[in-house]
Amino acid sequence: MSKSKGWKIVCINCGKETETELPDSKCKHCGDLLEISISAKVGRRALFEGRGPGIWRFGAALPFFSGTIPISLGEGGTPLVRLEHVGLGLDLDNLYAKNDGQNPTGSFKDRGIAVAVTRAKSLGARTLVCASTGNTAASLAAYGAKAGIKAVVVVPKSGVASGKLGQAFAYGARVFGVEGTFDDALRRVLDLVKGDEGFYLMNSLNPFRIEGQKVAAFEIYEQLGRVPDYLVLPVGNAGNISAIWKGFKELRANGITRSVPKMVGVQADGAAPFAKAFVSRRKIEALKEPHTVASAIKIGNPVSWKKAMRAIEESGGTVLTVSDHEIMKARTELGAREGLLVEAASAAPFAALRKLKLSKSAKVVCVATGNGLKDLADHKSEQAIETFDSGVSIVNTLGFA
Ligand SMILES: Cc1ncc(COP(=O)(O)O)c(C=O)c1O
Ligand SMILES: [Zn+2]
Repeated sequence: MSKSKGWKIVCINCGKETETELPDSKCKHCGDLLEISISAKVGRRALFEGRGPGIWRFGAALPFFSGTIPISLGEGGTPLVRLEHVGLGLDLDNLYAKNDGQNPTGSFKDRGIAVAVTRAKSLGARTLVCASTGNTAASLAAYGAKAGIKAVVVVPKSGVASGKLGQAFAYGARVFGVEGTFDDALRRVLDLVKGDEGFYLMNSLNPFRIEGQKVAAFEIYEQLGRVPDYLVLPVGNAGNISAIWKGFKELRANGITRSVPKMVGVQADGAAPFAKAFVSRRKIEALKEPHTVASAIKIGNPVSWKKAMRAIEESGGTVLTVSDHEIMKARTELGAREGLLVEAASAAPFAALRKLKLSKSAKVVCVATGNGLKDLADHKSEQAIETFDSGVSIVNTLGFA
Protein backbone atom coordinates (compact mmCIF):
# COMPACT_ATOMS: atom_id res chain seq x y z
CA MET A 1 0.00 0.00 0.00
CA SER A 2 1.36 3.43 -0.81
CA LYS A 3 1.75 5.24 2.50
CA SER A 4 0.49 8.57 1.22
CA LYS A 5 -2.83 7.08 0.16
CA GLY A 6 -3.93 6.22 3.68
CA TRP A 7 -6.33 3.49 2.63
CA LYS A 8 -6.32 0.16 0.85
CA ILE A 9 -8.79 -2.28 -0.65
CA VAL A 10 -8.83 -5.64 1.14
CA CYS A 11 -10.82 -8.85 0.87
CA ILE A 12 -13.20 -9.67 3.71
CA ASN A 13 -12.36 -13.37 3.33
CA CYS A 14 -8.67 -13.90 2.50
CA GLY A 15 -7.54 -10.49 3.73
CA LYS A 16 -5.37 -9.89 0.68
CA GLU A 17 -4.99 -6.43 -0.73
CA THR A 18 -6.30 -5.51 -4.17
CA GLU A 19 -4.30 -2.80 -5.91
CA THR A 20 -6.30 -2.59 -9.10
CA GLU A 21 -9.99 -3.21 -8.82
CA LEU A 22 -11.62 -5.83 -10.98
CA PRO A 23 -14.67 -4.62 -12.91
CA ASP A 24 -17.04 -6.66 -10.73
CA SER A 25 -15.56 -5.32 -7.46
CA LYS A 26 -14.61 -8.80 -6.23
CA CYS A 27 -11.37 -10.13 -4.74
CA LYS A 28 -9.06 -11.32 -7.50
CA HIS A 29 -7.67 -14.06 -5.26
CA CYS A 30 -10.81 -15.71 -3.88
CA GLY A 31 -13.77 -13.91 -5.44
CA ASP A 32 -15.21 -12.64 -2.17
CA LEU A 33 -16.36 -9.12 -1.25
CA LEU A 34 -13.94 -6.24 -0.83
CA GLU A 35 -13.83 -3.46 1.70
CA ILE A 36 -11.81 -0.32 2.23
CA SER A 37 -9.45 -0.23 5.15
CA ILE A 38 -8.53 3.24 6.35
CA SER A 39 -5.06 3.02 7.81
CA ALA A 40 -4.85 6.26 9.75
CA LYS A 41 -6.31 6.51 13.24
CA VAL A 42 -8.94 9.24 13.16
CA GLY A 43 -9.46 10.87 16.53
CA ARG A 44 -12.54 12.76 17.72
CA ARG A 45 -11.23 16.16 16.65
CA ALA A 46 -10.14 15.08 13.20
CA LEU A 47 -13.48 13.42 12.65
CA PHE A 48 -15.93 15.96 14.01
CA GLU A 49 -14.16 19.22 13.39
CA GLY A 50 -13.79 18.68 9.67
CA ARG A 51 -15.24 21.10 7.15
CA GLY A 52 -17.15 20.61 3.96
CA PRO A 53 -20.72 19.82 3.06
CA GLY A 54 -22.52 16.70 4.32
CA ILE A 55 -20.51 13.50 4.21
CA TRP A 56 -17.33 15.30 3.09
CA ARG A 57 -17.03 16.87 6.51
CA PHE A 58 -15.87 13.43 7.59
CA GLY A 59 -13.18 13.35 4.92
CA ALA A 60 -10.58 12.28 7.50
CA ALA A 61 -12.31 8.89 7.60
CA LEU A 62 -12.98 8.60 3.86
CA PRO A 63 -10.72 7.30 1.10
CA PHE A 64 -9.06 10.24 -0.57
CA PHE A 65 -8.37 10.30 -4.29
CA SER A 66 -5.54 12.68 -4.94
CA GLY A 67 -6.20 15.26 -7.62
CA THR A 68 -9.97 14.66 -7.74
CA ILE A 69 -12.43 17.08 -6.24
CA PRO A 70 -15.40 15.36 -4.55
CA ILE A 71 -18.48 15.13 -6.74
CA SER A 72 -21.19 16.42 -4.43
CA LEU A 73 -24.84 17.43 -4.54
CA GLY A 74 -24.91 18.08 -0.78
CA GLU A 75 -25.46 14.49 0.37
CA GLY A 76 -25.47 13.57 4.05
CA GLY A 77 -26.11 15.80 7.05
CA THR A 78 -29.73 14.63 7.20
CA PRO A 79 -31.89 15.29 10.28
CA LEU A 80 -32.32 12.93 13.19
CA VAL A 81 -35.94 13.46 14.18
CA ARG A 82 -37.40 12.45 17.50
CA LEU A 83 -40.73 10.67 17.08
CA GLU A 84 -43.26 11.96 19.55
CA HIS A 85 -46.38 9.96 18.82
CA VAL A 86 -45.47 6.70 17.15
CA GLY A 87 -42.92 6.14 19.92
CA LEU A 88 -45.52 6.75 22.61
CA GLY A 89 -47.82 4.17 21.04
CA LEU A 90 -45.00 1.69 21.34
CA ASP A 91 -44.11 2.85 24.83
CA LEU A 92 -40.68 4.04 23.74
CA ASP A 93 -39.34 7.28 25.15
CA ASN A 94 -36.39 7.62 22.80
CA LEU A 95 -37.32 6.71 19.26
CA TYR A 96 -35.68 8.57 16.39
CA ALA A 97 -35.81 8.55 12.61
CA LYS A 98 -32.66 9.31 10.67
CA ASN A 99 -34.34 10.93 7.72
CA ASP A 100 -32.16 9.95 4.80
CA GLY A 101 -35.08 10.70 2.51
CA GLN A 102 -33.80 14.27 2.68
CA ASN A 103 -30.73 13.48 0.62
CA PRO A 104 -30.46 15.24 -2.77
CA THR A 105 -32.25 12.52 -4.75
CA GLY A 106 -34.35 11.38 -1.80
CA SER A 107 -32.52 8.32 -0.51
CA PHE A 108 -29.45 7.17 1.44
CA LYS A 109 -27.92 5.97 -1.81
CA ASP A 110 -26.59 9.48 -2.47
CA ARG A 111 -24.04 9.10 0.32
CA GLY A 112 -22.42 6.09 -1.30
CA ILE A 113 -22.92 7.11 -4.90
CA ALA A 114 -21.13 10.42 -4.25
CA VAL A 115 -17.98 8.64 -3.05
CA ALA A 116 -18.10 5.95 -5.76
CA VAL A 117 -18.65 8.54 -8.51
CA THR A 118 -15.69 10.49 -7.19
CA ARG A 119 -13.66 7.27 -7.36
CA ALA A 120 -14.92 6.66 -10.91
CA LYS A 121 -13.88 10.17 -11.91
CA SER A 122 -10.40 9.66 -10.47
CA LEU A 123 -10.07 6.47 -12.53
CA GLY A 124 -11.29 8.19 -15.69
CA ALA A 125 -14.37 5.95 -16.02
CA ARG A 126 -16.38 6.52 -19.17
CA THR A 127 -19.74 5.00 -18.28
CA LEU A 128 -21.31 4.33 -14.89
CA VAL A 129 -23.66 1.39 -14.60
CA CYS A 130 -25.87 -0.15 -11.94
CA ALA A 131 -28.72 -2.56 -11.45
CA SER A 132 -31.42 -1.02 -9.34
CA THR A 133 -34.80 -1.33 -7.71
CA GLY A 134 -35.07 2.41 -8.38
CA ASN A 135 -33.22 4.50 -5.85
CA THR A 136 -29.69 3.66 -6.98
CA ALA A 137 -30.83 4.42 -10.53
CA ALA A 138 -32.12 7.86 -9.52
CA SER A 139 -28.99 8.63 -7.53
CA LEU A 140 -26.52 7.36 -10.11
CA ALA A 141 -28.29 9.33 -12.82
CA ALA A 142 -27.99 12.56 -10.85
CA TYR A 143 -24.36 12.12 -9.81
CA GLY A 144 -23.40 10.94 -13.30
CA ALA A 145 -24.85 14.17 -14.63
CA LYS A 146 -22.97 16.20 -12.05
CA ALA A 147 -19.70 14.39 -12.81
CA GLY A 148 -20.18 14.62 -16.56
CA ILE A 149 -20.03 10.83 -16.93
CA LYS A 150 -22.65 8.81 -18.82
CA ALA A 151 -25.04 6.83 -16.63
CA VAL A 152 -26.67 3.53 -17.59
CA VAL A 153 -29.21 1.99 -15.24
CA VAL A 154 -30.73 -1.46 -15.49
CA VAL A 155 -34.02 -2.09 -13.71
CA PRO A 156 -36.69 -4.79 -13.53
CA LYS A 157 -39.17 -4.03 -16.32
CA SER A 158 -42.04 -3.84 -13.91
CA GLY A 159 -42.47 -2.85 -10.30
CA VAL A 160 -40.06 0.08 -10.03
CA ALA A 161 -41.69 3.07 -8.32
CA SER A 162 -42.80 5.62 -10.88
CA GLY A 163 -41.14 8.53 -9.09
CA LYS A 164 -37.76 6.80 -9.13
CA LEU A 165 -37.96 5.98 -12.83
CA GLY A 166 -39.04 9.54 -13.52
CA GLN A 167 -35.97 10.78 -11.66
CA ALA A 168 -33.60 8.57 -13.67
CA PHE A 169 -35.04 9.97 -16.89
CA ALA A 170 -35.03 13.53 -15.61
CA TYR A 171 -31.34 13.30 -14.70
CA GLY A 172 -30.60 12.12 -18.23
CA ALA A 173 -29.66 8.47 -17.69
CA ARG A 174 -30.20 5.69 -20.21
CA VAL A 175 -32.69 3.29 -18.64
CA PHE A 176 -32.81 -0.40 -19.64
CA GLY A 177 -35.37 -2.92 -18.42
CA VAL A 178 -34.96 -6.66 -17.90
CA GLU A 179 -37.58 -9.34 -17.39
CA GLY A 180 -37.51 -10.59 -13.82
CA THR A 181 -36.26 -9.14 -10.58
CA PHE A 182 -33.45 -6.91 -9.33
CA ASP A 183 -31.32 -10.06 -9.00
CA ASP A 184 -31.70 -10.72 -12.74
CA ALA A 185 -30.80 -7.11 -13.48
CA LEU A 186 -27.66 -7.35 -11.31
CA ARG A 187 -26.59 -10.59 -12.97
CA ARG A 188 -26.84 -8.89 -16.36
CA VAL A 189 -24.92 -5.85 -15.16
CA LEU A 190 -22.10 -8.01 -13.74
CA ASP A 191 -21.82 -9.78 -17.11
CA LEU A 192 -21.71 -6.39 -18.80
CA VAL A 193 -18.90 -4.95 -16.68
CA LYS A 194 -16.82 -8.11 -16.95
CA GLY A 195 -17.14 -8.05 -20.72
CA ASP A 196 -16.40 -4.39 -21.38
CA GLU A 197 -13.88 -2.23 -19.59
CA GLY A 198 -15.76 0.93 -20.43
CA PHE A 199 -18.32 0.32 -17.68
CA TYR A 200 -17.77 1.12 -14.01
CA LEU A 201 -19.92 -0.79 -11.52
CA MET A 202 -21.86 1.38 -9.07
CA ASN A 203 -23.79 -1.22 -7.06
CA SER A 204 -22.97 -1.64 -3.38
CA LEU A 205 -20.54 -4.46 -4.22
CA ASN A 206 -18.33 -1.49 -5.00
CA PRO A 207 -16.60 -0.89 -1.65
CA PHE A 208 -16.46 2.88 -2.19
CA ARG A 209 -20.26 2.95 -1.94
CA ILE A 210 -19.99 1.54 1.56
CA GLU A 211 -17.55 4.28 2.59
CA GLY A 212 -20.01 7.05 1.81
CA GLN A 213 -22.86 5.24 3.50
CA LYS A 214 -20.91 4.52 6.69
CA VAL A 215 -20.93 8.25 7.44
CA ALA A 216 -24.56 7.94 8.63
CA ALA A 217 -23.13 6.28 11.76
CA PHE A 218 -20.88 9.30 12.50
CA GLU A 219 -23.81 11.66 12.04
CA ILE A 220 -26.15 9.64 14.26
CA TYR A 221 -23.52 9.47 17.00
CA GLU A 222 -23.00 13.21 16.82
CA GLN A 223 -26.70 14.12 16.66
CA LEU A 224 -27.72 11.83 19.49
CA GLY A 225 -24.68 12.68 21.58
CA ARG A 226 -24.05 8.96 22.03
CA VAL A 227 -24.35 5.62 20.31
CA PRO A 228 -27.94 4.38 20.14
CA ASP A 229 -28.83 1.04 21.72
CA TYR A 230 -30.50 -0.18 18.55
CA LEU A 231 -30.06 0.77 14.92
CA VAL A 232 -32.94 -0.58 12.83
CA LEU A 233 -33.05 -0.49 9.05
CA PRO A 234 -34.52 -2.21 5.99
CA VAL A 235 -32.36 -4.85 4.29
CA GLY A 236 -32.43 -5.55 0.57
CA ASN A 237 -29.05 -6.22 -0.97
CA ALA A 238 -27.58 -5.78 2.54
CA GLY A 239 -25.12 -3.01 1.67
CA ASN A 240 -26.43 -0.30 3.94
CA ILE A 241 -26.51 -2.34 7.13
CA SER A 242 -22.92 -3.37 6.40
CA ALA A 243 -21.98 0.25 5.80
CA ILE A 244 -23.53 1.74 8.93
CA TRP A 245 -22.04 -1.04 11.02
CA LYS A 246 -18.61 -0.26 9.54
CA GLY A 247 -19.08 3.36 10.61
CA PHE A 248 -19.87 2.41 14.20
CA LYS A 249 -17.00 -0.05 14.29
CA GLU A 250 -14.63 2.67 13.13
CA LEU A 251 -15.89 4.97 15.90
CA ARG A 252 -15.02 2.24 18.38
CA ALA A 253 -11.68 1.34 16.77
CA ASN A 254 -10.66 4.99 16.89
CA GLY A 255 -11.43 5.19 20.60
CA ILE A 256 -14.28 7.68 20.07
CA THR A 257 -16.89 5.36 21.56
CA ARG A 258 -16.75 2.24 23.64
CA SER A 259 -20.19 0.91 22.79
CA VAL A 260 -21.81 0.08 19.46
CA PRO A 261 -25.50 -0.39 18.69
CA LYS A 262 -27.24 -3.68 18.15
CA MET A 263 -27.88 -3.78 14.41
CA VAL A 264 -31.39 -4.92 13.49
CA GLY A 265 -32.15 -5.74 9.87
CA VAL A 266 -35.75 -5.83 8.65
CA GLN A 267 -37.04 -7.64 5.58
CA ALA A 268 -40.50 -8.11 4.10
CA ASP A 269 -42.10 -11.52 4.70
CA GLY A 270 -42.13 -12.28 0.98
CA ALA A 271 -38.53 -11.22 0.36
CA ALA A 272 -36.63 -12.49 3.37
CA PRO A 273 -33.71 -14.72 2.30
CA PHE A 274 -31.40 -12.92 4.73
CA ALA A 275 -33.76 -13.38 7.67
CA LYS A 276 -34.03 -17.05 6.81
CA ALA A 277 -30.26 -17.47 6.63
CA PHE A 278 -29.90 -15.69 9.98
CA VAL A 279 -32.40 -17.95 11.72
CA SER A 280 -30.84 -21.12 10.35
CA ARG A 281 -27.27 -19.75 10.74
CA ARG A 282 -26.64 -20.98 7.21
CA LYS A 283 -25.45 -19.55 3.92
CA ILE A 284 -27.91 -17.49 1.99
CA GLU A 285 -30.26 -19.41 -0.28
CA ALA A 286 -31.43 -17.26 -3.14
CA LEU A 287 -35.16 -16.73 -3.38
CA LYS A 288 -36.29 -16.90 -7.01
CA GLU A 289 -39.46 -14.91 -6.80
CA PRO A 290 -39.37 -12.38 -3.99
CA HIS A 291 -42.57 -10.44 -3.53
CA THR A 292 -43.44 -7.41 -1.45
CA VAL A 293 -45.15 -4.07 -1.80
CA ALA A 294 -41.82 -2.52 -0.71
CA SER A 295 -40.20 -2.65 -4.16
CA ALA A 296 -36.87 -1.23 -2.94
CA ILE A 297 -36.22 -4.35 -0.88
CA LYS A 298 -37.76 -6.86 -3.27
CA ILE A 299 -34.47 -8.74 -3.58
CA GLY A 300 -33.96 -12.50 -3.52
CA ASN A 301 -30.18 -12.81 -3.47
CA PRO A 302 -28.55 -10.13 -1.28
CA VAL A 303 -24.95 -9.87 -2.48
CA SER A 304 -23.56 -8.32 0.70
CA TRP A 305 -25.13 -10.90 3.00
CA LYS A 306 -21.79 -12.02 4.46
CA LYS A 307 -20.86 -8.50 5.55
CA ALA A 308 -24.36 -8.01 6.92
CA MET A 309 -24.34 -11.29 8.81
CA ARG A 310 -21.12 -10.20 10.51
CA ALA A 311 -22.75 -6.90 11.41
CA ILE A 312 -25.68 -8.63 13.07
CA GLU A 313 -23.60 -11.23 14.86
CA GLU A 314 -20.79 -8.95 16.03
CA SER A 315 -23.27 -6.37 17.30
CA GLY A 316 -25.58 -8.86 19.00
CA GLY A 317 -28.46 -7.75 16.81
CA THR A 318 -31.12 -9.65 14.94
CA VAL A 319 -33.13 -9.86 11.72
CA LEU A 320 -36.92 -9.52 11.66
CA THR A 321 -39.59 -9.73 9.01
CA VAL A 322 -42.80 -7.77 8.60
CA SER A 323 -45.85 -8.24 6.40
CA ASP A 324 -46.84 -5.87 3.61
CA HIS A 325 -49.86 -4.92 5.68
CA GLU A 326 -47.65 -3.98 8.63
CA ILE A 327 -45.37 -1.98 6.32
CA MET A 328 -48.21 0.05 4.87
CA LYS A 329 -49.77 0.61 8.26
CA ALA A 330 -46.48 1.95 9.64
CA ARG A 331 -46.08 4.19 6.60
CA THR A 332 -49.53 5.68 7.11
CA GLU A 333 -48.91 6.18 10.81
CA LEU A 334 -45.57 7.92 10.24
CA GLY A 335 -47.15 10.29 7.76
CA ALA A 336 -50.32 11.11 9.63
CA ARG A 337 -48.93 11.15 13.17
CA GLU A 338 -45.36 12.34 12.74
CA GLY A 339 -45.32 14.32 9.51
CA LEU A 340 -42.72 11.91 8.19
CA LEU A 341 -43.42 10.61 4.69
CA VAL A 342 -41.32 7.55 3.87
CA GLU A 343 -41.42 5.14 0.99
CA ALA A 344 -42.77 1.66 1.65
CA ALA A 345 -39.40 -0.06 2.24
CA SER A 346 -38.43 2.62 4.72
CA ALA A 347 -41.51 1.96 6.83
CA ALA A 348 -40.35 -1.63 7.45
CA PRO A 349 -38.05 -0.85 10.41
CA PHE A 350 -40.80 1.10 12.16
CA ALA A 351 -43.23 -1.75 11.53
CA ALA A 352 -40.77 -4.15 13.14
CA LEU A 353 -40.38 -2.26 16.42
CA ARG A 354 -43.29 -4.02 18.08
CA LYS A 355 -41.53 -7.33 17.50
CA LEU A 356 -38.37 -6.26 19.29
CA LYS A 357 -38.48 -6.63 23.04
CA LEU A 358 -37.41 -3.08 23.82
CA SER A 359 -37.29 -1.38 27.17
CA LYS A 360 -39.11 1.95 27.46
CA SER A 361 -35.87 3.87 27.85
CA ALA A 362 -33.97 2.21 24.99
CA LYS A 363 -32.46 4.66 22.51
CA VAL A 364 -33.62 3.45 19.13
CA VAL A 365 -32.79 4.89 15.72
CA CYS A 366 -34.66 3.71 12.63
CA VAL A 367 -33.22 4.72 9.28
CA ALA A 368 -35.85 6.28 7.02
CA THR A 369 -33.96 5.26 3.91
CA GLY A 370 -36.12 6.79 1.19
CA ASN A 371 -38.53 9.65 0.64
CA GLY A 372 -42.22 8.82 0.43
CA LEU A 373 -42.79 11.12 -2.53
CA LYS A 374 -41.06 8.55 -4.70
CA ASP A 375 -43.78 5.92 -4.58
CA LEU A 376 -46.75 7.98 -3.46
CA ALA A 377 -48.44 7.66 -6.84
CA ASP A 378 -48.06 3.87 -6.81
CA HIS A 379 -50.03 3.25 -3.63
CA LYS A 380 -53.70 4.03 -3.84
CA SER A 381 -54.91 6.27 -1.12
CA GLU A 382 -58.34 5.74 0.34
CA GLN A 383 -58.65 9.44 0.86
CA ALA A 384 -60.25 11.67 -1.72
CA ILE A 385 -60.79 15.38 -2.05
CA GLU A 386 -64.00 16.36 -0.34
CA THR A 387 -66.37 18.76 -1.94
CA PHE A 388 -66.13 22.21 -0.45
CA ASP A 389 -69.55 23.04 0.86
CA SER A 390 -70.11 25.67 3.45
CA GLY A 391 -68.08 26.54 6.50
CA VAL A 392 -70.84 25.17 8.69
CA SER A 393 -70.83 21.73 7.07
CA ILE A 394 -67.01 21.49 7.22
CA VAL A 395 -67.06 22.36 10.90
CA ASN A 396 -69.77 19.75 11.40
CA THR A 397 -67.82 16.99 9.66
CA LEU A 398 -64.67 17.83 11.64
CA GLY A 399 -66.74 17.21 14.71
CA PHE A 400 -65.85 20.28 16.77
CA ALA A 401 -68.99 22.27 16.13
C1 LIG B 1 -35.41 2.97 0.26
C2 LIG B 1 -34.51 1.79 0.41
N1 LIG B 1 -34.40 1.22 1.61
C3 LIG B 1 -33.61 0.16 1.80
C4 LIG B 1 -32.89 -0.40 0.77
C5 LIG B 1 -32.04 -1.58 1.04
O1 LIG B 1 -30.69 -1.25 1.11
P1 LIG B 1 -29.60 -2.36 0.88
O2 LIG B 1 -29.82 -2.90 -0.51
O3 LIG B 1 -28.31 -1.65 1.02
O4 LIG B 1 -29.83 -3.41 1.90
C6 LIG B 1 -32.97 0.16 -0.51
C7 LIG B 1 -32.23 -0.43 -1.64
O5 LIG B 1 -32.54 -0.21 -2.78
C8 LIG B 1 -33.79 1.29 -0.68
O6 LIG B 1 -33.90 1.89 -1.88
ZN1 LIG C 1 -10.03 -12.82 -1.20
